[in-house]
Amino acid sequence: MDTVTTRHQVVILGAGPAGLTLARMLSLQNVDAIVVETRTEDYVRERVRAGVIEQSTVDVLTELGVADRLHREALRHDGFYLRLDEQTHHLDFHALTGRNAFVYGQAEIVADLIDARRGDGAPMVFGASDVAVTGVDSATPVVEYTQAGRRHRVQADFIAGCDGSHGITPTLMPADTQVMTRTHPFAWLGILARTAPTTAEGMYCAHPDGLSVHSMRGTQITRQYLQVPADTTLDDWPDERIWSELRRRSRSSDHPELETGEIFDRSLAPLRSVVTTPMQFGSLFLLGDAAHIVPPTGAKGLNLAISDACVLSHALGHYYGHRDRTHLESYGETALPRIWQAQLFSWTLTTTLHRFDDNPYSWELRRARMRRWIDSEAEQRALGEVYLGLPFPTPWRPE
Ligand code: APR
Ligand code: PHB
Repeated sequence: MDTVTTRHQVVILGAGPAGLTLARMLSLQNVDAIVVETRTEDYVRERVRAGVIEQSTVDVLTELGVADRLHREALRHDGFYLRLDEQTHHLDFHALTGRNAFVYGQAEIVADLIDARRGDGAPMVFGASDVAVTGVDSATPVVEYTQAGRRHRVQADFIAGCDGSHGITPTLMPADTQVMTRTHPFAWLGILARTAPTTAEGMYCAHPDGLSVHSMRGTQITRQYLQVPADTTLDDWPDERIWSELRRRSRSSDHPELETGEIFDRSLAPLRSVVTTPMQFGSLFLLGDAAHIVPPTGAKGLNLAISDACVLSHALGHYYGHRDRTHLESYGETALPRIWQAQLFSWTLTTTLHRFDDNPYSWELRRARMRRWIDSEAEQRALGEVYLGLPFPTPWRPE
């Protein structure tokens, strides 16, 4: 097979939210990058993931000129509902912070970013196979891949590892890299269904038998989740069982019973917390899920991927604008404090809302914490500040 050699300043591995957002930020700064993705474009555009976006993320996507459809189609929420002891409480973070959350599927953001990149006329490769990265410990790293029967060899200054938790770039980090991990003893069964949402905004139902989450995609489709055992399989969950469990855990004295309808997508996701440090090595930088994972509770994953993209884009802007490496050198240090705040938030939500054991003491303790969220304005404000998005560590380009 003949090999085609090209050169780009940055190779971005992975066309998820981290990679595509970074690609847009770099193209607006005239930094020459190529995006290389193993999956097909259709697969990436259709992949069902979470869909709650912080105000901070929406603000950046707006600045990047990729939020026109989001502003037309996303649902604007003030907070979320918490159902406890069969009663529904609205936590109105907007009233306390003046900010909002937006519901817009991750696949929609990815589609908007792909369309923007096409509009930029910038290189983007889908369906790459046998991706290999060498020389990340040097200033001349190389990425090779096969696509449409040709081997490509790309020389670059930097590699952005945006290839997710199963990608190859996390494996290129040195042996003494710390990968701090906690695995939660349960999973989420997620469905998409053709039913109207029960509440106007997303809802967490903290039932003693386990969590159920009721979210939506527009006004006709719901996205719902059930806490399930870590070792369960989709075969264990026929539709009737899913609906009966969702109904039981979401029963209330103040709302009609949950509507049921056709389930047209279902998946299982384990719950893990991971933080990798450092987040960089030589000319390699890890972003998004390649560097850290949050459990889905609170939907921080996509937002964190985009804040990492901001930090790296800002640092690369400095480097190419002024040949100043200081921001590149402190990339991880700059990104990590916000990552840890999101870890803490996701951890707190996860440990409060899920059932961990059948000890009544655990349930009462969790209930007591939820009562504080419901009754105390100070607690609500603290929760809301993080839910709607802490400020990003840097602007996406040097000011
Ligand atoms: N080379 C190139 N691309 C790769 C490789 C590889 N060797 N391995 C994996 N990929 C691709 C995946 O196919 C995927 O499209 O990298 C992309 C990583 O994208 P995401 O998994 O969406 O990760 P990220 O962009 O960091 O976004 C984090 O995604 O996992 C969710 O909930 C998480 O919302 C969060 C967000
Ligand atoms: C979603 O809409 O997909 C969603 C909502 C709330 C969560 C996680 C995901 O905590």
